[in-house]
Amino acid sequence: MPNPTQLAKKIGKSPTIAMNDKAKQLAAEGHDVIGLAGGEPDFDTPPHIVEAALKAIRDGETRYAAPSKGIRPLLEAIAQKLERDNAVRVNPMSDIIVTPGGKLALFLALKAMLDPGDEVLIPAPYWVSYPSITTMVGGVPVAVETSSADGYQLRLEQLRERLSPRTKAIIINSPCNPTGHVLSSAELEAVASLALEADLYIISDEIYEKLNFDGKPVRSLAAIPEIADRVVIINGMSKAYAMTGWRLGWLAGPSPLMSAAGSFNSQTATSAATFTQHAAVAALTGPQDCVEVMRQSYEERRDFMVAGFNSIPNMSCPAIDGAFYAFPKVDETGKTSEEVANIILDEAVVVGVPGSAFGVTQDAHIRFSFAEDFNKLKAAVERIRGIADKLA
Ligand SMILES: Cc1ncc(COP(=O)(O)O)c(C=O)c1O
Repeated sequence: MPNPTQLAKKIGKSPTIAMNDKAKQLAAEGHDVIGLAGGEPDFDTPPHIVEAALKAIRDGETRYAAPSKGIRPLLEAIAQKLERDNAVRVNPMSDIIVTPGGKLALFLALKAMLDPGDEVLIPAPYWVSYPSITTMVGGVPVAVETSSADGYQLRLEQLRERLSPRTKAIIINSPCNPTGHVLSSAELEAVASLALEADLYIISDEIYEKLNFDGKPVRSLAAIPEIADRVVIINGMSKAYAMTGWRLGWLAGPSPLMSAAGSFNSQTATSAATFTQHAAVAALTGPQDCVEVMRQSYEERRDFMVAGFNSIPNMSCPAIDGAFYAFPKVDETGKTSEEVANIILDEAVVVGVPGSAFGVTQDAHIRFSFAEDFNKLKAAVERIRGIADKLA
């Protein structure tokens, strides 16, 4: 019997999906589980976007997309969105590839830029898939750990220390999953300087850009003219438009790199679903108030979660600038984040993801999504409060 590759053993299942599956399994066994391990909006996709997809299906938009890198109206809508929202100018026909989801866009970007053994700087806490996808395409992830004590600031000196002759790229995610940190102008400038001095690509994952709080501005690295030709933007419909199941994302960047990514896309996915692309055109060019309604709702839930966790003995929850995750930590217990996540699961029947999954080695952080029903969030905080003495 042949075996799957050594690489497959190394990668395994995404820890957030694994915890989510665990929550579903407990619920199926009859437990009253509060699952906050996932990462998707609890809203339905706005009706005008659904209608556009249905119309496209009825109109026969059910064949392979042409061109495979994205239908022209969508490439143009993305280019207009980049100019309008991000002050980034791209050529729609040569600088954008539409993919079935932002995750695949990230995969294609890394596949197009890394030779085997090339290193990628990944500030931690990081989204779980960055190191795995880097490894899957033959690269080497190099984590650069930042700390909740100073609001997860990225520091040029710290990044410089992790450079090597093999460093080829850095991945930036602002607002960040799992911390919610939004990079300041000074941090963006630091990343830009590093990229110039070490000749790096920058992957700027902007999938949570619309979900920022307290009016904190979210700026794209691609808007800095000196580095615009080395930035690849990753974005998609999942988070801002509540379209996780539609699988629609894109990457935008310098045309030689996009040409390589486009070849890989056409040789694997072929294209994103054609009618889904029509729905994405409706989302990007239609009314944007639905996005603002959802954002405000996340902001209210953010306020509740931060105050709630900070009122629990032995727990503290740093400020959250964006996205929809709380990342509280248990104070100085000596317990690992896995131990804490398991206590919360066993005793409070609330599912979160241990900080170790996001590359945190110092403190016991747990990530809880607050893109969930308010009553569920209230119950989760109360249940955790009820077992707080067990966390110490
Ligand atoms: C930081 C980050 N980037 C990218 C993605 C990819 O999203 P999708 O593949 O649904 O577009 C996610 C999804 O959880 C994410 O959290």
